[in-house]
Amino acid sequence: MSQLLTLAAAATALQRGELVGIPTETVYGLAANAFDDAAVARVFTAKNRPYFDPLIVHLAAADQAAALCTAIPPAAERLMAACWPGPLTLLLPKSSRVSDLITAGAQRVAVRVPRHPLTLSLLSLLPFPLVAPSANPFGYISPTQAAHVLAQLGPHIAGVLDGGPCDIGVESTIVGFDADAVVIYRDGGVSREALTAILGNDAIRANNQTSKENQPDAPGQLSSHYAPRKPLYFDEIDQGDGALTACLQEFSPEQVGAIAFCAPFPSLPPAHQWILSESGNCAEAAQRLFHGLRLLDAAAIGAIYARAVPDQGLGRAINDRLRRASRR
Ligand code: TXA
Ligand code: MG
Repeated sequence: MSQLLTLAAAATALQRGELVGIPTETVYGLAANAFDDAAVARVFTAKNRPYFDPLIVHLAAADQAAALCTAIPPAAERLMAACWPGPLTLLLPKSSRVSDLITAGAQRVAVRVPRHPLTLSLLSLLPFPLVAPSANPFGYISPTQAAHVLAQLGPHIAGVLDGGPCDIGVESTIVGFDADAVVIYRDGGVSREALTAILGNDAIRANNQTSKENQPDAPGQLSSHYAPRKPLYFDEIDQGDGALTACLQEFSPEQVGAIAFCAPFPSLPPAHQWILSESGNCAEAAQRLFHGLRLLDAAAIGAIYARAVPDQGLGRAINDRLRRASRR
């Protein structure tokens, strides 16, 4: 039966090829031995995740990246020095040490050093790195507490290492490196403003590939993702309230819950409104986002409404997750 694990028990289970829920500063991960293909395959099965969606490899320290990659561009070196341990994932050319299962056949591997002290201790106990996608069934809301992992993946895992609620609350930022620019594939825990401050004059651009359901080169970009089971209606900032109107055509106000930034929506009853940050702080809002979505998904309502938060700092990652959650 799965349960909360000690560090030693988590290490033993991983060495046996089992799966363990691990805390990170972003969201909880579903970890397995990155050098054991059978264990990696179990991750896909447990999440019901398609094999075309590749996994991030988690390292104990930046110097372990060299064995997994054939080259580390100067911009990547600077980002590692500034952001690791922390919520930044780098796409780097993979070495033969990384199996095609992990990268879904792609030539780049995603790597990061997470910042949670328990998981860093775990990684330093183990003779291998850990693959760890977010510990949720494929397409569902990411977990930010140990209880979220046990509730959804309990039967598939040896247990969870409980590191408390996640500090950041949204996944890592994912970047890759073109000849002339650092490309952002997923907005996340390191904001674009922070990347710009680190990279100075280096060009940064957003990945403008349109997402296709089976495009392995578009990380985290599957169009429908992070989604509750209830329909989520989403309005962009400053673009009217067409989604709210559409929602209220389908559902009575009492049947609608909401994710609100700093104050409740006046046209909806306050009972099922989850306020992200009363002081309007995007970092606090990010931390509270996924837990709020889970509570609303479990509440006695029929639909969820959300409006974009300011598109700055971690607000960009929040908006990205809400936008994807609204697609189905
Ligand atoms: O914060 C995070 O990144 C969390 C914690 C647990 O570390 N992990 C996470 O993993 O969000 P996951 O699998 O839920 O999302 C990682 C995204 C996937 O959408 C995948 O498509 C992309 O990263 N990705 C991973 N490896 C890739 C690769 N080699 N090439 C392109 N995209 C990749
Ligand atoms: Mg995920």
